[in-house]
Amino acid sequence: MVDEISDFEVLELAVRELAIEKGLFTAEDHRVFSEWNDARSPAAGSRMVAKAWLDPEYKARVFSDPLNASKEVGVDWAEPSGFGTTSDYMHLTVLENTPTLHHVIVCTLCSCYPRPLLGHSPYWYRAPNYRRRIVRWPRQVLAEFGLVIPAEVEVRVEDSNAKSRFMVLPVRPEGTEGWSEDQLAEIVTRDCMIGIAQPKPGRTTDGPRPIHKASRPVHSGGRPKEATR
Ligand SMILES: [Fe+2]
Repeated sequence: MVDEISDFEVLELAVRELAIEKGLFTAEDHRVFSEWNDARSPAAGSRMVAKAWLDPEYKARVFSDPLNASKEVGVDWAEPSGFGTTSDYMHLTVLENTPTLHHVIVCTLCSCYPRPLLGHSPYWYRAPNYRRRIVRWPRQVLAEFGLVIPAEVEVRVEDSNAKSRFMVLPVRPEGTEGWSEDQLAEIVTRDCMIGIAQPKPGRTTDGPRPIHKASRPVHSGGRPKEATR
């Protein structure tokens, strides 16, 4: 049985067939790129973080030259799939969390995400509620994800776009002294590199996220009175 397809899928099919007909790319190019895209995962990002935790010189390169640092974990941003990118060159910035500074990433406009390093974005990253609420009430949204950031820690939200992508380098947790790169990479999950979770020994998967009804914090200013009548 074939499920009903959405309007967007119909649109994608139509544009793809037209592009192939016009010679912009071939059906084989599309197949190879789709297979490459489907094979992405957060593994390269996890490896990058683990290496940075262990090697100060590599860590310095992660900030000063993230594209070349990505190459060292097998990701070439300039030519990720072997035949060009979907949106030309993208500027990558790795954001360093510290005990007094916490970063979280979003794309308020749509769903831009560092896919070569983190694979496909989770469904909530693309949801309008996450995109509009994380920039207004970051601490509350992080708490809804189970991450309570102490008041003395600054929270910064970085907004991605088509040309600028971000990844969070979390703080190496206590209890990981003497760990190997493989052991460290295992606890650096996707959510830790988005900034909605923190790595800790024993936590190796992100798990399902609880669904919360969107709420408006008291004292936030909120919407005008007329809109609530
Ligand atoms: Fe976007």
